Amino acid sequence: MYRTHTCGELRKSDVGQSVTLAGWVDSYRDHGGGLFVDLRDRYGKTQVVFSSDSGEETQKLSRSLRNEDVIQVIGKVDPRPDGTVNPKLSTGEIEIKVEKLVVLNKCKTPPFFPGQQDMPGEDLRLKHRYLDLRRQQMQQTMLLRSKIIKLMRDYFEEHQFIDVETPILGRSTPEGARDYLVPSRVHHGEFYALPQSPQLYKQILMMAGYDRYVQVARCFRDEDLRADRQPEFTQLDLEMAFCEMDDVIGIIDGLVTKVAKEVHGVDVPGPLPRMTYDEAMERFGHDAPDLRFDLEIVDATDLAAEAEFRVFKAVADAGNRVRGICAKGAADKYSRRLIDDMTSMVQDDFGAKGLAWFKVEADGTLNSPIAKNFTPELLAKFKERFAAEPGDLILIVADKFEVTCKALYGLRKKLGAELKLYDPKAMHFSWVVEFPMFDYDEEEGRWVAMHHPFTAPRPQDVELLDSDPGKCRALAYDLVINGSEAGGGTIRIHDNATQQKVFGLLGMTEEDAKERFGFLLDALQYGAPPHGGIALGIDRWVMLFGYLDNIRDCIAFPKTQRAADLMTDAPSTVDRKQLEELAIKVLRLDEVKK
Ligand code: AMO
Ligand code: AMP
Repeated sequence: MYRTHTCGELRKSDVGQSVTLAGWVDSYRDHGGGLFVDLRDRYGKTQVVFSSDSGEETQKLSRSLRNEDVIQVIGKVDPRPDGTVNPKLSTGEIEIKVEKLVVLNKCKTPPFFPGQQDMPGEDLRLKHRYLDLRRQQMQQTMLLRSKIIKLMRDYFEEHQFIDVETPILGRSTPEGARDYLVPSRVHHGEFYALPQSPQLYKQILMMAGYDRYVQVARCFRDEDLRADRQPEFTQLDLEMAFCEMDDVIGIIDGLVTKVAKEVHGVDVPGPLPRMTYDEAMERFGHDAPDLRFDLEIVDATDLAAEAEFRVFKAVADAGNRVRGICAKGAADKYSRRLIDDMTSMVQDDFGAKGLAWFKVEADGTLNSPIAKNFTPELLAKFKERFAAEPGDLILIVADKFEVTCKALYGLRKKLGAELKLYDPKAMHFSWVVEFPMFDYDEEEGRWVAMHHPFTAPRPQDVELLDSDPGKCRALAYDLVINGSEAGGGTIRIHDNATQQKVFGLLGMTEEDAKERFGFLLDALQYGAPPHGGIALGIDRWVMLFGYLDNIRDCIAFPKTQRAADLMTDAPSTVDRKQLEELAIKVLRLDEVKK
């Protein structure tokens, strides 16, 4: 037997027992008379002591130990002498007096130690992921991930969902992102696509009468990566038949309550608050607003229209918007230089033309380089509109609605963090509902589905599909946690005619639609029940419940921003023979462009 106990297990009540432990040397201290080793495994650390009582051989061998060596020790559990108890360790009241030491494997000097204070750059951590994953923080995160997935599986089983696996090799039906393609050896020139989500399979399962489906599903999207996006990520994917939006939301509300309780011991009773998409954009400039703090967007377009200030007036007269936020007590925290930095940020990152600002002085007057362009009466109205008080900083962006949304969302996020407007350990859960069905893609000159093309319009908006598609709202809902989109779903179209119409609006001819989604259009004609569902981003849930800000820290073997696995060196070139079997020839970039 390699071990009788783990390194996190022994307590005072075990004193006197003979035990065998195995693990990694986390640290060692040579005190002349004895060598103290902290032995580590994923359960914890136990102090093991080599002294003259261990025998000369063993003591000599112990002196050769180095960090991260893998060892086995046999010995007796001893109480720690008075004054040496370590209250920070669960095993801190005892130590092991070693009788025998077996070195199971030596560790050569590693590029970094899992226990070291300052972590090296992320590339080195990813290259030696086996060392990185030994870190307590990573192990805690992996345990959290495992716990969340288990809670989800149990919850859905309790609610009669059946777990059905869907294919990884499928048909390319690009939804939003680019597909990852896999060439077929049997059908030269043809490709499978890795699923961006199991969307169509789960709909087909509803048509097949499975009623409630759930799957922990791996999804693949070849898109530009960010701190909260991976090319390969995991969804808790579900679908329900004979359901309305409230049924799906209700199920997830119950899950949120359960996970919040089990993970953090907090009560988050449902129903979770809901906000429409329009309201979210108006008040927070984003469809996944961070509701841990206020700092809401205020509209002042009507006041701007009264102003002499050319910039504001022109924007208001053109039917665009003048909106801003008022940061309480922030006036003296933001110097001219810092405001200039914010101005560059809204210009460079969000395409705004500028940033107007006012500081409220102690006497209540508004101080700003542009103040001279406003009458005192109008300044007073601005102050009142923003509910501004002495010491406050008002920031205003005048532009097209979308630009004001982006810029003020960015500013709100930045100020929220810098002014510490929320407790970093607080969690806020809410829904955003009534998304538009379509977004207009200026570049392509056509409508694109805001969620996906299988989303049903609100029943009262069906006519807008013909008259004014941009105004048509969908039976779509996103779960938002702390300003992150943690899940998204919709009620689906379940009749062929509406589905055809939506495909048409998206610019697909009948032949296109038939060629790409013929199986769905067929199935819709063979008895399709009303159905809907949602997918939760498990990696993001782990990130949010673990208070982490990088999705790569929530995945055991993630990809870099450039979609590479630094440990295995994927992607890689392949043998010529492999390519020949697939009848594939790799071109140089300049040859492709030809
Ligand atoms: P959607 O595309 O909104 O919906 O995805 C659902 C949730 O998955 C997470 N997510 C991601 N997480 C990490 N990296 C990514 N690249 C990534 N992309 C998405 C988000 C998101 O809310 N089939 C539909 C669901 C449905 O309609 O039922 C779908 O995939 O948390
Ligand atoms: P200008 O008249 O362009 O020099 O701008 C005068 C001030 O107004 C500067 O502080 C600009 O940052 C600000 N400003 C310019 N355009 C906008 C805009 N679209 N929204 C808000 N402030 C602006």
